[in-house]
Amino acid sequence: MNPSADHPRVSTPSPSPTDAVTERRAEPEQPRLLGRSRAYTLANLPERLCQWHAPRINRWERLWVTGGALAIEYLGASGTTNVELALQDNRWFAPGTRWRVVRMGPDSAFELEVHADIKGQAEAPQHLRSDLLEEAIAVSVADAGALAALLDALPVGERRLVHAGFALGAWSGLATSAHTLFWHPLAAAPGSFTVLVARSDQPFDLPAYLGRDHAVIEAALGGALAGDVTSDGWLRATLERHLRIEEELVFPAYLAAGGREAWIKGLLKEHTYLRQYLGELDQPRSRRRFLRLLDGHDEKEERVIYPDVLAHVDTRAEALLDAAMALPVRGAKCMP
Ligand SMILES: [Fe+2]
Ligand SMILES: [Fe+2]
Repeated sequence: MNPSADHPRVSTPSPSPTDAVTERRAEPEQPRLLGRSRAYTLANLPERLCQWHAPRINRWERLWVTGGALAIEYLGASGTTNVELALQDNRWFAPGTRWRVVRMGPDSAFELEVHADIKGQAEAPQHLRSDLLEEAIAVSVADAGALAALLDALPVGERRLVHAGFALGAWSGLATSAHTLFWHPLAAAPGSFTVLVARSDQPFDLPAYLGRDHAVIEAALGGALAGDVTSDGWLRATLERHLRIEEELVFPAYLAAGGREAWIKGLLKEHTYLRQYLGELDQPRSRRRFLRLLDGHDEKEERVIYPDVLAHVDTRAEALLDAAMALPVRGAKCMP
């Protein structure tokens, strides 16, 4: 049975403390079910639902627990959050929200629906994507000691937009983060830098970091499309940094470990087009192409490529994650 067709009573799961404080439960304003809902059990659970993946532009997903219980994780605005869902619980996933199934029992079952929000426009900034940056509390720190103190005190599930008044090269605090601190540099200038940080409730891995980096880029894109000049600069800096993480660190390690050359060749070609369309973002045709390409590219990497990278690089994944997070943005240029 399709639960939405009968306008069921919706029981919302009790949020975890982290959830309640930091995550706004987003729902589409006027959802329209696309196609039929799909029913899953442990027996037919596809691998892609166990990997980070996200509803794409203007698509929402709703998960509805129809048997037993299951545990999911999602990469919300404040990091990785683990959520236990019980029978009849349901949860919406906004466009761009990375999530995955982490545990279900033999008696667990759920349905998954894909909706369009008819209020959404194909090229409009995405609600949650922009929130990631726009709703972060901004703080300024004068030196490395102040930044270390801020990060030490950053509660689980919280994020900050940090403007630091010293050169990024003087910072080496990431080495002690134990992979619970998401670190996404946004801009750098001589003697200062800006970074988005979030304290996760559990250690994250390379695919989770790269997927969240996609979300940060999409958030900057949301702001840039709304005409915000600062966001436009962040978009260009974060995208270029992300492409370099893949081109200089992740893809070479994957290929050296026997990864598929044809896949990487295709991705690198798409990187070339992403750079080209980004340079022409003021032209409607290039903007449309950029949005479509970025969306499909990110989805392909998160569903297919990153899990295969992890399988190939194996024990090197932790060192790659350290190197990826440590890669700085190049000096930000606000406009091309
Ligand atoms: Fe890529
Ligand atoms: Fe990527």
